Amino acid sequence: MADAPDLAARAEELRDLIRYHAERYFVHDDPEIADAEYDALVRELEQIEADHPELATPDSPTQTVGAPVASLFRPVEHIVPMMSLDNAFTFDELVAWGKRMERMVGAASAFSCELKIDGVAMSIRYERGAYTLAATRGDGRVGEDVTENVRTVGAVPERLEGPHVPDLLEVRGEVFMPVSAFEELNRRQAEAGGKLFANPRNSAAGSLRQKDPSITASRELSMFCYGVGALEAGPALTSHGETLEWLASLGLPVNPESRVLGSLDEVYAFCERWQEHRHDLDYEIDGVVVKVDDLAMRAELGATSKAPRWAIAYKFPPEERTTKLLGIMVSIGRTGRATPFAQLEPVFVGGSTVAVATLHNEDQVRAKDVRPGDVVIVRKAGDVIPEVVKPVLAERPEGLPEWRFPTECPRCGEPLVRQEGESDTFCVNVDCPAQREQRIAHFASRGAMDIEGLGERTVQLLLDHGLVADPGDLYRLTADDLLGLEGFAEVSVRNLLAAIDASRGRPLANLLFALNIRHLGPRGAELLARHFGHLDRVMAASAAEIAAVDGVGPTIAGSVADFFSLDRNRAVVEKLRAAGVDFGKVPEPEHPQVLAGKSVVVTGTLQGYSREDAEEAITARGGRSPGSVSKKTTALVVGEGPGASKLSKAEELGIPILDEAGFEHLLETGELPG
Ligand code: IVH
Repeated sequence: MADAPDLAARAEELRDLIRYHAERYFVHDDPEIADAEYDALVRELEQIEADHPELATPDSPTQTVGAPVASLFRPVEHIVPMMSLDNAFTFDELVAWGKRMERMVGAASAFSCELKIDGVAMSIRYERGAYTLAATRGDGRVGEDVTENVRTVGAVPERLEGPHVPDLLEVRGEVFMPVSAFEELNRRQAEAGGKLFANPRNSAAGSLRQKDPSITASRELSMFCYGVGALEAGPALTSHGETLEWLASLGLPVNPESRVLGSLDEVYAFCERWQEHRHDLDYEIDGVVVKVDDLAMRAELGATSKAPRWAIAYKFPPEERTTKLLGIMVSIGRTGRATPFAQLEPVFVGGSTVAVATLHNEDQVRAKDVRPGDVVIVRKAGDVIPEVVKPVLAERPEGLPEWRFPTECPRCGEPLVRQEGESDTFCVNVDCPAQREQRIAHFASRGAMDIEGLGERTVQLLLDHGLVADPGDLYRLTADDLLGLEGFAEVSVRNLLAAIDASRGRPLANLLFALNIRHLGPRGAELLARHFGHLDRVMAASAAEIAAVDGVGPTIAGSVADFFSLDRNRAVVEKLRAAGVDFGKVPEPEHPQVLAGKSVVVTGTLQGYSREDAEEAITARGGRSPGSVSKKTTALVVGEGPGASKLSKAEELGIPILDEAGFEHLLETGELPG
């Protein structure tokens, strides 16, 4: 352990660092480090101050809330200060919190559990039911007046309703941007060459901190209320659960997932469930807030200078971390697309170790301005592929050069081409070894011709030995060709040849998908196979004839027609024909196609189906299951914890909303339940 002078210096350094990063986060909406790193700095300082009380200072950030307000908005004093929360990261820390309270006031018999919304804390004042003021948290005592901006948030009512409207209410809650709205906003920003937001929280904060409320109004924000500050002439409330019900009865938005639970074991099960399902929601949560339900007990417990003793935030493991960007490489895909990706110093984030992360395309790298040698924030959320969010500019070494997209293919050296109006760059050399490799590997992959044992490594071997040049050559391979290859013996040779032979009988949809036609995915291939019934008829069709197939758009149609107009592609098809590959196999679908032409959106968690199962059940019956609700949606299926924006959009558009039983009826009959 370091000795005292070192620790004093470290504590001072930590205080400076924390103040700096708190200002970046709270005042500039532009954090430089991931939340987890910030939490770690605070924890380290807390530990030093706990072990060495003489090193604690009254103005330490461990004793204060948020950050002082910026000058853009009028300062407002909260009637009741807005506090922060202590954190727990493990079940043991949750139990230790319970024990601490038990020692002070006895055991709590009920805990209110709420999702911890990752947005911007807000205090809204209603006087005799009328909306009069909205203020950010600021330093907890004084916040910023954002009344006109918050007025534009649809979920926030202008007037409270019902028989129990108080004379004065300061309601506390979190303003947030739904994930779908954030993604849409960033898409628009990227198109306009504007600044990208790092995450929904930053875009919510940035949208609120606008001098012109019409800009805030153009951003889709929402809110959940979770508590009360000042209250005059309100009803007599005895529990937090009652408080939330009352807030909802006034017409205020309250999160539907809150539960009152009897033990910390149940609380922990709630936390674990939401940790697993956090991405089923259309808003970001970073934990669960656990509160003693009994208001009298809360009053007895009181608060420290910073946070109430009766509440704690159980924080989920981080999905964002910082790490070093070692280099930016470009990979060439099966259609020749050149995708930049980051090589990272390995970092544990979102449940696994991440060493590479996608950078999508040239514009994304430019918009994010990440450079090899930067420290970057890496994000891995749920099943989504890891991505680089942004550089930590404060740590950028001086003179670090900008990264430039290569002008030549890293594999074949031919020039890379980016067409006007397109965001992707391509290697257009069809003989590029990287493309050949990817094309053959794709041809053999699951969902395509499904040739077991023919992965990327084997394809590479076959190419290196000049045994194949395109997928058609696979069917000419002999045992003699394979026997000499590294890692191949008699049995593996026999297995591979048998697998290749078996692939001759794959359905037409698989064959179409296997051919590497740009834009044509498994669903489009299925539609074409059903409509045309034979590869020769697909090849003979014009773009207009293909576009006339229900569910196939002009982009796919054009691409399919282009593909078959090229001699070299027709030559591959002829090789396949000569090899005896079936061109006309269209098996009867396993389920009656009762959902053909219908679009069914699923939100929240169903009991009998995982998200993938539900989507598969829909597509297996000929339907589509897109990720968002539109005018064309046939029905919205709602499980537990539905996305707020999907639900409100469906209600707004008058789209039928089904529960799980209704969903099953729909799957069986194709009809909405009566
Ligand atoms: S209660 C005095 N409940 O988390 C207790 N906070 O890290 C006040 N937050 O400042 C907080 N969801 O901005 C509470 N359901 C919830 C919350 C929540 C998000 C935020 C809030 C608070 C921060 C503390």
